[in-house]
Amino acid sequence: MQQRLTRALAELELLAVAEPCRGAGIGTLLLTAAEELLAAGGCELMFAKVRLTTRRVLLWYRRRRFLVAVPREPVAVEAGRAMVSFDDGGDGYQLVVKSLLPGTRVSRVNTGAGTCLVVRHERPSTPSTSSASLP
Ligand SMILES: CC(C)(COP(=O)(O)OP(=O)(O)OC[C@H]1O[C@@H](n2cnc3c(N)ncnc32)[C@H](O)[C@@H]1OP(=O)(O)O)[C@@H](O)C(=O)NCCC(=O)NCCS
Repeated sequence: MQQRLTRALAELELLAVAEPCRGAGIGTLLLTAAEELLAAGGCELMFAKVRLTTRRVLLWYRRRRFLVAVPREPVAVEAGRAMVSFDDGGDGYQLVVKSLLPGTRVSRVNTGAGTCLVVRHERPSTPSTSSASLP
């Protein structure tokens, strides 16, 4: 199960572009390249930890189809026949999560005891009503 989980999950530990070079598309190129590389290697779910105070970066990930977890919100992943969950650890960071499996995306579900993020098959698209609020 651990081997299956290691293959299915990838953390983007650090993505940073030097300040004078920001806004030129380099961050998007690096992120896309990482996503493609991981997906080709069989990775199902990619996540990063973003500082709670950097709303601009959280929004940057959200525009790139990552779902922003609320602090301490669990992310549940299938590993073999078991479900494994993890969260941000409560250390001042927030998780941003994206499914790399074609036709799926990470969704928020209500568990009764709170909410949880899981990978689900996408529904046919409907006209979107975007909002600037988080998550
Ligand atoms: C998040 C980060 C990697 C993005 O890199 P980047 O090369 O600036 O990214 P891009 O150029 O692809 O996109 C920048 C976005 O900001 C806008 N922008 C314009 N001018 C900008 C500027 N001077 N600085 C930053 N963003 C700018 C771009 O239009 C773009 O908007 P969009 O999201 O609507 O497309 C970069 O801001 C960074 O290194 N931040 C600090 C480190 C960090 O917090 N990393 C995340 C933790 S894993």
